[in-house]
Amino acid sequence: MTLMGVVYYPEHWERAMWENDAELMARTGVRVVRLAEFAWSLLEPKEGVYDFAWLDEAIELFHRQGIQVVLGTPTCTPPNWLTERYPDVLPVDVHLKTRQAGVRGHRCYNSPSMRRFSATIVRKMAERYAAHPAVIGWQIDNEFGLNECCCPHCEARFREWAKDKYGSLEALNRAWGTVVWSGTYSEWEQIKPPLGGTAFKNPSYLLDWKRFETDAVVAFQQLQLDVLRETCPGHFVTHNIWSYPMALDYYRLCAPLDFASLDYYPNTSLEKAGTSGYGGALTLDLARGIKRRGFWIMETISGPPGCWFPMWRTPQPGFIRAFAWQCIARGAEAVVHFQWRSAPVGAEQFWHGLIDHSNVPGRRYEEYAGLCEEVNRLSGTLDGSEVAGEAAILHSHELYNAFQIQPQAEGMDYFDNLKLYHRALTKLGILTDAVNAAEDLSGYRLIVAPSLYLLDEERAKHLEDCARNGATVILTNRTGVKNDNNVCWIRPLPGPLAEAAGVTVSEYDPIGGELHAMVDKQGNSYACSQWCDILTPAGAEPIAWYDDDFFAGQPAVTVRKLGKGRVVYIGTVAEERYYIELFRELADEIGLTRLDGLPEGVQISVRRKGQTRYLFVLNLSRKRQEVSLGGTFASVLTESRVGPALTLEPYGVEIVEWIE
Ligand code: GAL
Ligand code: ZN
Repeated sequence: MTLMGVVYYPEHWERAMWENDAELMARTGVRVVRLAEFAWSLLEPKEGVYDFAWLDEAIELFHRQGIQVVLGTPTCTPPNWLTERYPDVLPVDVHLKTRQAGVRGHRCYNSPSMRRFSATIVRKMAERYAAHPAVIGWQIDNEFGLNECCCPHCEARFREWAKDKYGSLEALNRAWGTVVWSGTYSEWEQIKPPLGGTAFKNPSYLLDWKRFETDAVVAFQQLQLDVLRETCPGHFVTHNIWSYPMALDYYRLCAPLDFASLDYYPNTSLEKAGTSGYGGALTLDLARGIKRRGFWIMETISGPPGCWFPMWRTPQPGFIRAFAWQCIARGAEAVVHFQWRSAPVGAEQFWHGLIDHSNVPGRRYEEYAGLCEEVNRLSGTLDGSEVAGEAAILHSHELYNAFQIQPQAEGMDYFDNLKLYHRALTKLGILTDAVNAAEDLSGYRLIVAPSLYLLDEERAKHLEDCARNGATVILTNRTGVKNDNNVCWIRPLPGPLAEAAGVTVSEYDPIGGELHAMVDKQGNSYACSQWCDILTPAGAEPIAWYDDDFFAGQPAVTVRKLGKGRVVYIGTVAEERYYIELFRELADEIGLTRLDGLPEGVQISVRRKGQTRYLFVLNLSRKRQEVSLGGTFASVLTESRVGPALTLEPYGVEIVEWIE
C-alpha cells in the first residue's frame, strides 16, 4: 500500500471545522493523518492532569471517515509548567546559558525530569490509544538533532560514557592523544563538554563528544520506544528525520525503529530548480538506505514555505505531484503532506498548507486531490514492489562529523562531494542505493566510496573483498587517513586500502578553491579543485593525469584490477562532466542497467515486483523535455502505450511497465 496522508493540527482550529476537514480529506483520498506531536500542553495542561477528550474526538472523526491515524509523542515541546517547575528540562547552551522555552526542541535528553515526564505522557497516550482501531503507529518526538547541551547532567553522563568506552583514564589519554599541549587528564572530573569546540581542541575528543550526543538522543528515544513496544505491540514506531547533512547518526537512531521517516521539502526557487531534484534524489536514496527498505515521507511540501526566511516561490503547477512521485519512485511507502491548511496562528503561519488561510480549496489542493486519486489507483499495482540499486554510494555521519571538526581544504565539503558523485550517477540513469559506509556491501557491482577518512583494517578488507568478488570500488582523496579514534595512521595513504588500490599518495596539495587541470586517456581536459593527491602507482594503471603546476604529468586517477573486480582511486575533485564520463565507461564495461540520454532535470527510478519492473520517468524541471525510452511500453498511469520518444510536460510524470 502506498498511503497518502496529511499533517493535521486539530488544536489550531475551531472544533466546528474538524468534521468538514475530515470529511473533505476522505473525499480527497487521504488515507492517514498525523496528529498531536506538539500538543503536550493540551494533553497534560497541569502536572499529572490529563485531557484526552479533544484528541479522542478528533481521532473518532477520522475513524468515522475511514482515515487512519499516526500519533506523535509530544516530547519536542515540554509545556511551560514543566520547564518552570523542573528547570533541568531546559538545555544549557555552549555559552552556559539556559535555553528558554517558547519555541520548541527545548529539552535536554539527559535531564532526569524530562525523562520521567516523557515516559509518563507517552505511557498515558499509549494506554489510551493502544486498542483504538484507527491508530496504526507512532512518531517519536519530532526531527531529533544534537542539541549540544552542556548542563551538569550531560556533563556527568559524558564522563560515564567515556568510562564505559575506555575503562581507564590511561586508555582514554592514549586513544585521544591528550599528551599534545599537556592535555593529559589526571582525574575523570576534568573531562567536560567541549562548549562548542573549536579547531584548536583535540579532534579525538570532539568526535567522541558527537558520538556521545547521538547516544543521548538514542537513549531518550529508547525510553519512549520501550513504553510503546510494551503498550502497543501492534503499532509501528518511527521517527521523522530532518534532512541531510546531519551530525546525529540516523543509522543508530533508526536501528530500533520499524522504519525511517523523512521530512522532505524540495526547493521551489528558480535558481534551485535545476539542482534541487538531484539533491532530493540523494536525500531519498539515503532515507531508503537507513534501514535498506521502504520508508515514509512524514512531511512534504504543500505550498510556499517560509517563516524562518522570506517565503520561497509557490510550487509551480505539477511540482507537488511530481515530487510526491519522486518519493514513491525512490521507495516511499507513504507520503504525508505538511499540512492540510495553513496555520492561522503561531510562528509557521506562512509555511503554507494545501489549502490557504481562506479555506477555499485552490490550485494546489486540486493538484493534490488528483495525486491522491492516482496514487490510490496505482497502490495495488505498486504494492510489494521494491527499489534496489545495482550501484551503491557510501555515506557516514561519522565522516561528516570528522570533516566538520577538521575541514581539509577550502571548499572541500564531504556532503557536497557526495552530492556531486550521486548527481553524476543520477544523470546517467543509474539507480543507486545510498548506504551506511559501515554496512555489508556484498552484491553491489559499482561502489562509490567517497573519502573514507576514518578507516580500519576490517573495513578496508571488506571493500577489498567486494572488489575481488567482482565489484568496481571507487575510492577518492582523503581515504584511509585516520583510525576510528580520529588519530592519523603512520603509513602511506590511502592507508589500509593502499595495497588493494595498488597506489600510494606520494604527496598531496590542498589546492582549495583554485582551479587546476587534468587530462584523461582520450586527451580530454577537465577542471579539478579542492585537493590533489599526487599518485605513485604500485600495480595500478593511471587513467588521468594532472596537467599543470609542479605535479603536471603525475597520475591523478588510477585503476587496479583485483580478482574479478577493480579498485579505482581518484585523487582530486573534478568537475561533474568528468564523473559522468568515467562512471559511464565503468558502468558500461560491467553492464549496469541504466537509461542513456536523460535530459537535464529528468530522473528515472525502478521499482521491481517479481519479474515486473516499473520505470518512473520524472521531469523535475520547468521545461518540456523529451526522453528516449528505447521502445514502447504500457503506461500504468494512463493505460496507453508510450515511447519510444516520450514527451514530458514541465513536472510531468510517466510510469511504465519496463522490459529492458
Ligand atoms: C519541519 C517540522 C514541522 C514544521 C515544518 C515546516 O521541519 O517537523 O513541524 O516545522 O518543518 O517548517
Ligand atoms: Zn543536558
